[in-house]
Amino acid sequence: MKIAVFGGTGLIGSKVVGKLNAAGHEAVPHSQSTGVNVLTGEGLEEAAAGADVIVNLTNSPTFDEASPAFFRTSMEKLLAAAEKAGAGHFVILSIVGVDRVPLDYYRAKTLQEELLAAGPVPYSIVRATQFMEFVDAILSWTTEGDTVRLPGTPVQVIAAEDVADAVAEVAAGAPLGGIRDIAGPEVLPLDDWAGSRWRPAATVTRSSGTTTRECSVSSPATSSSPGRTPASPPPVTPTGWPPTRAGADAAPGARNGADALGDMMWWDG
Ligand SMILES: NC(=O)c1ccc[n+]([C@@H]2O[C@H](COP(=O)([O-])OP(=O)(O)OC[C@H]3O[C@@H](n4cnc5c(N)ncnc54)[C@H](OP(=O)(O)O)[C@@H]3O)[C@@H](O)[C@H]2O)c1
Repeated sequence: MKIAVFGGTGLIGSKVVGKLNAAGHEAVPHSQSTGVNVLTGEGLEEAAAGADVIVNLTNSPTFDEASPAFFRTSMEKLLAAAEKAGAGHFVILSIVGVDRVPLDYYRAKTLQEELLAAGPVPYSIVRATQFMEFVDAILSWTTEGDTVRLPGTPVQVIAAEDVADAVAEVAAGAPLGGIRDIAGPEVLPLDDWAGSRWRPAATVTRSSGTTTRECSVSSPATSSSPGRTPASPPPVTPTGWPPTRAGADAAPGARNGADALGDMMWWDG
């Protein structure tokens, strides 16, 4: 199958392109770096022409109030191009529990889902929990000196490699006409995930759900692949992480992506 992967040079997109091509498909990555812009429409029709499947893995450069406009404009342009190309399947990657979280970026992703479902092309939505690679970014935003302060709220992180497996599998199959959830193997406190990435020093103090974990910041875990850091990160504070407060970002019944996660963790002892 010919598969056009928009955002195919990003963290997830580049892995999806590799997996689809390894499975014998003809997957082509498109992004600004290949001369395609999903906001201006530059190169879009040419990129979509002849594609059986369109996969949209582009991402907004910010997580703030500008993000809905990114996803509205990009989806309107991509859906028009997909219809013109006669594509039979359009796939996006969204977030588990996205419609329950009152943050701009989550509203933007919900809008993206709604535009796709109401659009002219048969579709699939893959919803994933937070990427393990995203934990690296959270660590960098919340570290002061040698100390990282994180909430102990529960999250069910998944490796980008496992997310890409799920997206590639869905893209190569028949349209779901709905949503498939994919989640990591275990629900753990955010600070525990962080501790698995950066070797914690001896002192870990927990009080009222807030952890002060002292880390040796010069000791990152083995196969770190942090991806891009958005210009305006979501509000992770020592006491809160809004997605988990809203009961989102954990999916106990979801398909389990556990294959790549173990290789990324650094458990002491
Ligand atoms: N972070 C999480 O934990 C999480 C969880 C669930 C779902 N997701 C979703 O997963 C998807 C992929 O995320 P990711 O981390 O792989 O993103 P990423 O690494 O930031 O990659 C974004 C891709 O979009 C391209 N792009 C950005 N603006 C563009 C434009 N105007 N025109 C064309 N291409 C453009 C980028 O390439 P250029 O810069 O060269 O254009 C890049 O290829 C996103 O939709 C995100 O919402 C993320």
